[in-house]
Amino acid sequence: MAGSSADRRLNVFGSTLRRDAWWVELLPVIVILSSFGIYATFRAFEGKFYAWGPYLSPFYSPLIDPEHRWWRFSPALLILAGPLGFRATCYYYRKAYYRAFFLHPPACGVSEGGRGAYRGETRFPFILQNLHRWFLYLALVFLAFLWWDAIRAFFFQDGFGIGVGSLVLLANIVLLTLYTFSCHSLRHLAGGKLDCFSCTQFGPSRHSAWGWLSRLNERHMLFAWMSLFSVGLADLYVRMVSSGVLKDIRLL
Ligand code: FES
Repeated sequence: MAGSSADRRLNVFGSTLRRDAWWVELLPVIVILSSFGIYATFRAFEGKFYAWGPYLSPFYSPLIDPEHRWWRFSPALLILAGPLGFRATCYYYRKAYYRAFFLHPPACGVSEGGRGAYRGETRFPFILQNLHRWFLYLALVFLAFLWWDAIRAFFFQDGFGIGVGSLVLLANIVLLTLYTFSCHSLRHLAGGKLDCFSCTQFGPSRHSAWGWLSRLNERHMLFAWMSLFSVGLADLYVRMVSSGVLKDIRLL
């Protein structure tokens, strides 16, 4: 009987045997993801101040129909689904927002109360999280455009040069590349579904690719946060320069 009453107590939302402040790590996730979501939504709909000189905001790349010939709304809305879908279905972010926003569960070893049978991601809408692999393919295409933008940011009207914006866009694409290449799906693509690396034709090259990607994958959470900050700050920088709030400093 004593055991069953303890079980009942542990089935109350938030009950746990943990003694640490497990809820502390939820707060930054809520604050950062909410702030980014609000800012990114505002910028996606704003439809202006996205380019200056050789700089193009990552929120608007690739830039489609900027003259509004056939699309009258913000050009960012045409491409938003790609990067948004990639981040929203990311394995790391899933863990972060399931805990912070859905409290499902709030943390490891912390009860979410009686919520009925756990179905994981086997039913709509969460089954759509399985699209992550496809969003990864899309993200690789976006990455190519963003690398092109970052290189172009070094070519001003008077030729090659380096502005603060060039470095901001370069740092951003490096972090986005690290985030994308540390993706769990990409690692699985390189090394998954194989019992023996040396038994197949491309096994050895797949093994080294898998090894490199695994090293990056260990830091996927770090790259997820750093690239979230960098993409937001890169857009903010271009917006401030483009709207005249800030003057870009030419270093070379
Ligand atoms: Fe995070 Fe793929 S798992 S981007």
